[in-house]
Amino acid sequence: MPVEFLGIAATNDGSETTARSGASFDKEYTLRLARAHEEHGWDRVLFAYGSGTPDPAPAAAYIAGKLDRLQILLAHRPNVSYPTFAAKTFATLDQISGGRLAVHFITGGNDHEQGREGDVLGKDERYARTREYIRIVKKIWTTHEAFDHEGEHYRFHDFVSDVFPVQQPRPNVSFGGSSPAAYAAGGAEADIYCLWGEPLEQTTQQIEAVREAARAAGRAEPPRIQVAFRPIIAPTEELAWEKAHRTVGAIRERRLAGTVQRHRSNGVTEAAAPQNTGSQRLIAIAEAGERYDRALWTPTAAATGGAGNSNALVGTPETVAQALLDYYDLGVDILSARGYDLRDDAIDFGRYVIPLVREEVAKRDAAREGAAREGAGPDTVRGARPETGSPRQTLTAVRG
Ligand SMILES: Cc1cc2nc3c(=O)[nH]c(=O)nc-3n(C[C@H](O)[C@H](O)[C@H](O)COP(=O)(O)O)c2cc1C
Repeated sequence: MPVEFLGIAATNDGSETTARSGASFDKEYTLRLARAHEEHGWDRVLFAYGSGTPDPAPAAAYIAGKLDRLQILLAHRPNVSYPTFAAKTFATLDQISGGRLAVHFITGGNDHEQGREGDVLGKDERYARTREYIRIVKKIWTTHEAFDHEGEHYRFHDFVSDVFPVQQPRPNVSFGGSSPAAYAAGGAEADIYCLWGEPLEQTTQQIEAVREAARAAGRAEPPRIQVAFRPIIAPTEELAWEKAHRTVGAIRERRLAGTVQRHRSNGVTEAAAPQNTGSQRLIAIAEAGERYDRALWTPTAAATGGAGNSNALVGTPETVAQALLDYYDLGVDILSARGYDLRDDAIDFGRYVIPLVREEVAKRDAAREGAAREGAGPDTVRGARPETGSPRQTLTAVRG
C-alpha cells in the first residue's frame, strides 16, 4: 500500500523553539507553509484545533481555494458545535476542496482546556459523546432522507442536509488518543487511527490495542494507522545530533523564560502534569531512556512535558527514512512529520526524506505482490526490514 505523508498547516511561524513573527492568523505564512508542503511531495496537512487559536475550518477553506492538490486533515472538537452543523461545514469544505477533506475528531485530553469552551464532561464521557457525534456526522453525509436522532448526547428531529461531500460514500474519519476509552471509540469508528511517535515496541502494542478494539466492534477491516514524529535531519549524523541538542536547548530556554505559548492546542499548560494518557506515555518513555531503536530521541518530548507530537527522529535523511520504514513495516502507512522551523523543515523533509521512503515502500510493495503471486503470505515481506544503501544527498536548506 502506498505510504502517505501528513505535514502541518500552522497559521503562523511560531514553534516550541521560535516565537512567532506576526499575528496568530498570518494569512501569507499560512499559504506559504501549505504551498511548501504541496510543492515538496507531501500528501496532506493537519489543521489543528486549540481553544484560542484561529478556527481551522475557514483557514482550511482558504488553503483549499488557493492550492490544487494538497489534501486537508481538519481537526474538530465535538464540544464546539452540534453535529448537524458540523456535518454541513465538512461537506461544504469537501465541495470547496474538490474532495480533499478528512476530519480528525478530537475528544480532548485536558479538562481545563475543554472547560474553556464550556465542556464539562469527564474524559471517558467525552469519548462516548465523540462516538455518537461521529456516527451522526457519517449518517448525515450519506443519508438523503430526513431522519430523527434520539441519543445520549444529541436529540434532533426531521433533519436532512442539502449539501453532501464530493467523496463517496464519505470523507475519511481520523481519530487520536491512547486511553482504553480512545481505543474503544476510535477502533469502532475511525478510518485512520493516529498515534504519537513512540518506540517500535510501544507502537506495536498500541496498534494491537486499536485492532483489538476494531475486532471487538465487529469490524472486518481495522483502521489504517498514522504515526507522528518531529524529524531533525542534517547532511551528517554528527550535524544532525548537534542540531538536535541545539533544538532541545532552545525549547528549554523558551520554557525557562516563560515564553512558550501557555495554552497549547492539547491544553497542556506549563506547570500542569498532563491528564491525557498519550502525553503520560511520552513522559514515561522519556524517563526510561533518551534513545530508542534506530533514531528515536525523547528529550524533545521530555522538554515539552509530552506535549503531543514531540518525539524526534534524529539523523541523516537516510537514517530517518530507514527509521520511518521500520514503522511502515509494523503496519503504519501514514507518516506524520513536523520540524521546528516549520517551513524550511517541511521543504528539507520533502526533498530528502519523502523520496527515499516512497522508493523503498514501492520496492516492498512490488516484492509483496511478487510473493503473493508465488503463494507466500504478505506478512513475510512487510515484516522484513531490508537495509538499503541509497546514495547520500546534500541538504541545501538546512540552517545552522
Ligand atoms: C495526531 C494527533 C493529532 C491531535 N490533534 C489535536 C488537536 O489539534 N487539538 C487537540 O486538542 N487535541 C489533539 N489531539 C489529542 C487527541 O485527539 C485526544 O483528545 C487526546 O490525546 C486524548 O487523550 P488520551 O490519550 O488520554 O485518550 C491529537 C492527537 C493525535 C494523536
